[in-house]
Formats: sequence, C-alpha cells, structure tokens
Amino acid sequence: MTTTTTGSIRRRLFVQLVAIAALLSVTLFFVVRALAETAAAETQDGILAASATSIADALGSADGQITLDLPYSALSMLGSINEDRVFYRVIVNGETLTGYNDLPAPRELPSISEHSFSTFEYRGDEVRMASVSRTVSAGGAPQNVLISVAQTRLGLAAISRRISAIATAAGLGFFLLATALSQLAARSALSPLDHLTQSVTRRGPADLRPLVVDTPTELSPFVDALNNFISRLRASLLRSEDLIAEAAHRVRTPLATVRAKAEVTHRKLQKPEHKQTIREMIRAIDESSRSAGQLLDHAMVTFRTDSLTQETVDLRDLVRETSARLEPAAELRDVTLRAVVPKSGVSIQGDRLLLQSALQNILDNAIKYSPDDSAIEIMLTQSDAIHLSVNDHGRGFGDADVDTLKTRFARGANVDDIVGSGLGLTIADEVARAHGGNLEIGTNERGGACVSLVLPLH
Ligand SMILES: Nc1ncnc2c1ncn2[C@@H]1O[C@H](COP(=O)(O)OP(=O)(O)O)[C@@H](O)[C@H]1O
Ligand SMILES: [Mg+2]
Repeated sequence: MTTTTTGSIRRRLFVQLVAIAALLSVTLFFVVRALAETAAAETQDGILAASATSIADALGSADGQITLDLPYSALSMLGSINEDRVFYRVIVNGETLTGYNDLPAPRELPSISEHSFSTFEYRGDEVRMASVSRTVSAGGAPQNVLISVAQTRLGLAAISRRISAIATAAGLGFFLLATALSQLAARSALSPLDHLTQSVTRRGPADLRPLVVDTPTELSPFVDALNNFISRLRASLLRSEDLIAEAAHRVRTPLATVRAKAEVTHRKLQKPEHKQTIREMIRAIDESSRSAGQLLDHAMVTFRTDSLTQETVDLRDLVRETSARLEPAAELRDVTLRAVVPKSGVSIQGDRLLLQSALQNILDNAIKYSPDDSAIEIMLTQSDAIHLSVNDHGRGFGDADVDTLKTRFARGANVDDIVGSGLGLTIADEVARAHGGNLEIGTNERGGACVSLVLPLH
C-alpha cells in the first residue's frame, strides 16, 4: 500500500498549543507587571496625599499670620517605605512659608477637596508630588495656602525591576508547564487513533469481521466507512470462493463419471496398447480430479479460517483416519504408511476438517514424491508444541526456497513429470497459521522431505 503523509497531526496540534501557551505567557508577563506597578504607584500616591493632608490639617494662624507646626508623622510616613528623599513646600499667597523654595508648584492647581499629582525631574531624580490647597483665615482675611509633598521614585523603580523578574519567571514557568501539558494533550487527543490502528493491525490476514472498538464521535464515521468496506470485501470474497467451489464441484462430478466409464472399458479391452492408453487416461482424470479437489479444499480453507470452528480434535484419530484414507493411493505405489503416535491422547482446539485437509495434502505430497516401494512415517509428538510430521524417502526439497513453495500455485523444480497444482503446501500452511502455528518444511537425514505442522498447545 502506498500512502503519502502530509505532516503529523500530533506535531501540528503540539505546535499550535505551544504557540498559544507562548502568547498567554507573554500576556501574563505584561499583565502581572502592569498590575503590580500600578499597585505600587497607587500606594506611593496614597501616602503622598495623606502626608500633604496631615500638613494641611496642622495649619493655624496667630497674630494675623499663618502658622505651621509641621507634624513629625507627616514626613516620617513617607520615609518608612524606602530610602527615597522627601521634599515639601508650603506656599501662602505665592510666598514660601516653609520647605524647599525651588520645589516647583503643580502645573494644575488642586481644589480644596482633591489632591493633584504630578511627576517631574527635580534635583537630578524623578519625583512624584502630591499637592492640596486650603483656605485659612488669618487677620480677618482668607489666605490661599498650597501644600506640596514630593518624593523620589527610586524605590518604585527597584520594586518595578523585582516585579519584572518575578513576572518573567512566572511567564517562563507557565510556558514550560504549558509545553509539557501540550505534549501530553496532543498525545492523548490522538490516542484513540493509535488504538484504532492497533486493533486493525492486530487482526489476522483473513479476519474480515466488522471492527468493534470504542471510538470517539469524530472517528465513528471513519470506523463505519471501514466496516462498510470490510463487509463489501467479505461479500466479494465469498462470491469468488463460492464460484471456485461451484466450479470445482462441476468439474469433479463429470470426471468421476468419465473415470467409471474408463474403468469399465479398461476391463473389456484386450489389446495391451489399448489398455495402456486407457490407464493413462485414468491417471490424467485422477490428477484433474485431485486438482479440482485441492481448489475446493483451498476455497474451503480460506472460507473457514475466517470463522474457525473450535472443537476438540484428537490428533491421533486424525492421523489414523487420514492415513487410512490415503492407504489405497499408497498401495498403488507399494508405499507403506507408518504412523507413530504417543500412547496418551494429543488433542487441540481447532477445526477438524481443516486439519484433516492439511495432513491429507502433506501426505499426498509424500506419496507422490516418494519412490515406489518405500516407507513414509507420520509422527505425532508433543513437547512445548505439537509436531505432526510426515517423513518420506523421496527426493526432498533440495535447495528450493520453501517460503515460495507455500504460495499459491507454486511448484518446485524437483517435480519432473509428476502432476500437481501447487496448492497442497499452501493449504497446509494456511491451516497451520489459522491455528496459531506454522508449517515447517525441511529435509530429513535420509535426504527425504520432512514436512511438519507445528501447532501451539492451548
Ligand atoms: N514430500 C515432498 N518431497 C519433495 N518435494 C515436495 C514434497 N512436497 C512438496 N514438494 C515440493 O513443493 C512443491 C509445492 O507442493 P504443493 O503445494 O503440494 O504442490 P504440488 O504437489 O501440487 O506440486 C511441489 O511442487 C514440490 O516441488
Ligand atoms: Mg501437492
């Protein structure tokens, strides 16, 4: 089968998940940093405002003058957050009452109730300043007082750096975790596909039963389509097996009639050369009928391996029955069949008809390829597996490729004028494999063939 692959779904899924994770990590980094920086800045603003307010609350008047008794806490609350420098200035009607003369006034003037904030460069550092205004009456006239408290932002920058480092670590950690999880997710998302592939590959070559697997919804149309295909294939196979069986049957029946007639004629004829001709005819008819029989057997084997009958088969009985059945053919060549079976029963779970057909074909070969007046041993042994071997004194396999001989219609180079259809070993091999075993083909120490059905003990 040829398939062209266009990338891997697993890899594509993984790459997409990782890309999403990367995007989320970067977003996480910026969101964490922005939130933390805002919080830190708001904290500073809050303290600056509180400080300005507490100074404003300490304003008083005496002798028509504005007085200020600067509360200690007003500036100490600022000093407590970090080592930043603090500046303040109180302006009454444009004149500095106390504080730093050069501290700039806020660009927009604050209202009574609300603070105004500004950020600017002052004495070489960036500062944040909160201002609040008050109207204080002194000497009978209301006076406008502007209170400003400023602080450098070095501490804020340090906090910001620390938060950036934490956000980077968090983003990176999230990314690594998400990558590992993506790998798992991609694998688990595709595991039903692996499961499906396995249940298809595990099947025997002749298993055409519909596929019954638990699949996710997305895969069930595919499984349905596959099952549909399998059932069509099965139907078409059945049709052709039927056809072969029918054809073989139709050939064999008239052949049997012709053979019977030929035998009658053979008896009636007197002249030896006529008798010889008829004998050859009978031999050819026998071969044709044997070939048709093997075609029929092969069709049966293919059909039955699909749904193997499981019955207890006593292999000793099988050996006895099959050798009895082939006894007449062996006698014609003066070949003796000798069965060596153990005393106790050897049985397996399997299909009796198929096993019989396999042994019969092996034995048929042994008789065919043996010289006249020789012996054939059928040996049944049981150790870690069951060996049902047929040894003959014939020509053996030589250096033929035995795996090729197991294929349909394949015949060896050693056949000379012996007729055959090349299906015998194919049938035996298929039966062995249908029973979970295999067909071993070799040469025995006398140079003859040794063909064994090796069947597992269940
Ligand atoms: N007992 C045997 N001795 C020697 N060669 C054998 C024997 N059995 C099978 N073979 C070889 O294996 C080939 C395939 O066997 P088989 O499939 O039964 O086909 P066929 O007997 O119809 O030729 C035969 O053509 C023959 O060359
Ligand atoms: Mg054969």
